[in-house]
Amino acid sequence: MCGIVGYLGNGSAVDVWDGKCFTDVNASGVDARDGEFFTGVTSEAMPVLFDLLKKLEYRGYDSAGIAILNDENGEIRTFKTEGSVGDLISITPELGGRIGIGHTRWATHGKPSTKNAHPHSDGTGRIALVHNGIIENYAEIKDKLIESGHEFRSETDTEVLPHLIEEYYDGNLESAVRNALSMVRGSYALAAISVDDPGRIVVARKDSPLVIGLGDGGFFVASDVSGILKYTRDVVFMNDGEIGVITDAGIDITTLEGVSVEKKIETIEWDPEAAEKSGYEHFMLKEIFEQPDTIRDTFSGRISADGIDLGVALPNVRRIVIIACGTSYHAGLFGRYVLERFARIPVDVEIASEFRYTDPIIDCGDLVIAITQSGETADTLAAVREAGSKGSQKLGIVNMLGSSITRECQCLLTRAGPEIGVAATKSFTSQLACLLLLSVQLGKARKTLSTADVNDFVYELKQMSGNIQRVLNSAPDIRKCATMFADADQFLFMGRGANYPAALEGALKLKEISYIPAEGFPAGEMKHGPLALIYDGVPVVAIATKDPVYEKTLGNIKEVKARGATVIGIANESDTEIAKYVDYVLRIPDTDPWIAPVLSSVVLQLFAYYVAHHRGCEIDKPRNLAKSVTVE
Ligand code: AGP
Repeated sequence: MCGIVGYLGNGSAVDVWDGKCFTDVNASGVDARDGEFFTGVTSEAMPVLFDLLKKLEYRGYDSAGIAILNDENGEIRTFKTEGSVGDLISITPELGGRIGIGHTRWATHGKPSTKNAHPHSDGTGRIALVHNGIIENYAEIKDKLIESGHEFRSETDTEVLPHLIEEYYDGNLESAVRNALSMVRGSYALAAISVDDPGRIVVARKDSPLVIGLGDGGFFVASDVSGILKYTRDVVFMNDGEIGVITDAGIDITTLEGVSVEKKIETIEWDPEAAEKSGYEHFMLKEIFEQPDTIRDTFSGRISADGIDLGVALPNVRRIVIIACGTSYHAGLFGRYVLERFARIPVDVEIASEFRYTDPIIDCGDLVIAITQSGETADTLAAVREAGSKGSQKLGIVNMLGSSITRECQCLLTRAGPEIGVAATKSFTSQLACLLLLSVQLGKARKTLSTADVNDFVYELKQMSGNIQRVLNSAPDIRKCATMFADADQFLFMGRGANYPAALEGALKLKEISYIPAEGFPAGEMKHGPLALIYDGVPVVAIATKDPVYEKTLGNIKEVKARGATVIGIANESDTEIAKYVDYVLRIPDTDPWIAPVLSSVVLQLFAYYVAHHRGCEIDKPRNLAKSVTVE
């Protein structure tokens, strides 16, 4: 996700000086500005936009830019750079003008660079636009625009928007935006300005958040309220399919079809820090609840009537070797199940810190898949380099475009957006989603999946986002169950098949934020040792969703119950049997057995969160852990 901002000043002064924003240092460590340059009070757009961008930098921080419309001289001046908002401030001269837009980027199409940074403009430079979202059909639009003479400067999907708007521009920016959006499939929160239509900002929203603040100093546009709370608490939330025109006279909002919409002005009570978490108490909880959207982004533009296209070259290889650490390793274990089942290709899964020192037997007949949220994990990077030195082909599954792994090999982006909580949540389910897509694409290519199988499975994939939302709606039940066990001194997790990696991940989530010892096992393995850990009342989480080994898992539940365990079963909504065998049931919607582990993982993320919350743990920054382990 990215952050977009806009400001239409009304000439009265606003106080941007907060002792923090403009004393920020830029990349070279030199004070980007001193207090004198940016007086505490201004009616110019630039200082306000910088301030808004600083507040939204957590949404994306690989590049940034602003565009200011000086409606006195009828000029748009745009400055943008790879790097932070501080870097942007350091390269931007003082720009006059009371209207402007800005952007801080989390790259999804086109690596982090100055040319790919927003704002983007049409060929004439008379329109500037910032965008958060994904234009699914940008390639076909771009081809048509190039055929009609448009020249593109960036690798981004976004750049098609200002060129489309230019195509439709007939003196009215709003109608040009409306017509352009009628050609677009995908998600967007956008803000556009034009020298030919001065004195206004046109905004639009579909599947990406956008809010307009109404303040004494003018109107403020931002991706979320954390950017504007300092200036105003009175806001209007844009809804999907709405277009807004902001002028000195006020805000006029219509649907894409042009029907006028009455909007309620809401007053936000959050403090700025709470706003950055969208009102959630912790980033981890916010990120758990973002998963219906992030899964939608992961799938966006990759599933069509023709099947699945991940946009990466998939060599025909003898074997796949998945390399990863921690949560990403658990995703890899899940990947083995689905890749072997759908693509009938042998898969090994290796912990990166082990693999790199085993003098691995690997060559050009192997495809190494490195799964890493950060793209910076030292062990994973070293392991990929080791594999590459032996001739293996390489593919990364990564969340951070521009990270080191993207310079090692071609990468498939998970598109989960910045993940602030140390405990991986949304990045994990997006990794699983990517592995499911990869398995189906390979299965179709290798003819190990019939077209009917692919179509049936793709239908279920399209339900995933809504099914995750249904799991999130059951959060109160999960919380009630979790708090009953918050004082347990250990937990066991078990599952069979693709539920086994979900059990391991559930154990890791719990232990890393609640500090309670927790271990995951293949359910069939309990009798070979772990049963010794069972005593009266010990909590065992059993993932028993409907799949070919469901009855076997029930048998394992009976084993631990017979020895005194208290069992929390995770089961399908339609399962009428499970309650006879367990003490508590947490439900997931009925879905394909290969997709069920994704939903069960969301249940276990919430379970871990509520246990840790009840114990008063430091959830977003657990002791001894870092978000990205860039050392051995
Ligand atoms: C999981 O919650 C932890 N944050 C940790 O295990 C993490 O998954 C591991 O360090 C790997 O990180 P990566 O995905 O960025 O490579």
